Amino acid sequence: MADKTAVQPKTNLKGRDMLTLLDFTSEEVSSLLAHAEQLKSEQINGTAHPLLAGKSLGMIFENASTRTRVSFEVGMTQLGGHALFLSPRDMQIGRGEPIMDTAKVLARYLDAIMIRTNSHEKVEELAAHSDVPVINALTDLYHPCQALADLLTIKEHKGKLEGLKAVYIGDGNNVAHSFLIACAKAGIDTAIAVPTGYEPDKKVWEEVEKTAKENNTKAELTDNPQQAVSGADVIYTDVWTSMGFEEEKEKRLQAFEGFQINKELCKDANADFLFLHCLPAHRGEEVSSEIIDGVHSAVYDQAENRLHVQKAILAAVIH
Ligand code: CP
Ligand code: NVA
Repeated sequence: MADKTAVQPKTNLKGRDMLTLLDFTSEEVSSLLAHAEQLKSEQINGTAHPLLAGKSLGMIFENASTRTRVSFEVGMTQLGGHALFLSPRDMQIGRGEPIMDTAKVLARYLDAIMIRTNSHEKVEELAAHSDVPVINALTDLYHPCQALADLLTIKEHKGKLEGLKAVYIGDGNNVAHSFLIACAKAGIDTAIAVPTGYEPDKKVWEEVEKTAKENNTKAELTDNPQQAVSGADVIYTDVWTSMGFEEEKEKRLQAFEGFQINKELCKDANADFLFLHCLPAHRGEEVSSEIIDGVHSAVYDQAENRLHVQKAILAAVIH
């Protein structure tokens, strides 16, 4: 019988952090997607290999999560490793222990650290002091694991990535930032439509434009959702009020009027457009039920793909 542990991951990013997709080349992104596809088919066929036997992932969650927590934990189990859920409520970091000490100590036990927190700077600090890879599981600025799952879902449903047009309607938030970067790296043209005052972070948008230019793709920013969806192959939205912005909810509901993804808004998109949402969703706010629960929607495939892309990331970065 073949030695299963001898099978190596296709992408070698050993020791690398994943804080934003900006740190990865288009080739590395493509290679991670290819490995995710392989891992997905191996899981389905029952031919999976325990690539991370004996390895441990620490998962620090300072914010709520359903998909990220479960998919990372199950992913480590499927790869033969182990995941620990670490709540700041129970850790000394929640009582003020410095991030530096937390990073240095955790790196003595773990093979990788995953963190979800509001502050991207905090994740950068953790990564700077950690001797093991740090994976960003959502900050105020980025959600790279989500964006990889988005690309995999588009590839599965459209049969390709390059040459498509993807449109993001809503808040210029963490999910939007990572999605736009991922699309640019994959050769997908993008347009993002936001109400005035809810544009993407200025520095991130500059990086999006730069990445799009490097990859010969378009990146358009507009306040007109109807115009943005014209000719779209993919339409994406996320909640209008992200975690940490709850006190702005009422103001945002007013500002985002006219930005709901519904049949009327989608009438100028390509007839076979794909609808994506990272979830959790608010039906009747950013998207109508007829769209998210309709034939164009691939949101549950997208959620499933979190598992497969994260397994590829873990296999690639862990020693
Ligand atoms: N999409 C996503 O990150 O979902 P969770 O907040 O449930 O992890
Ligand atoms: N933009 C959302 C994504 C949740 C997965 C938030 O930050 O709350």
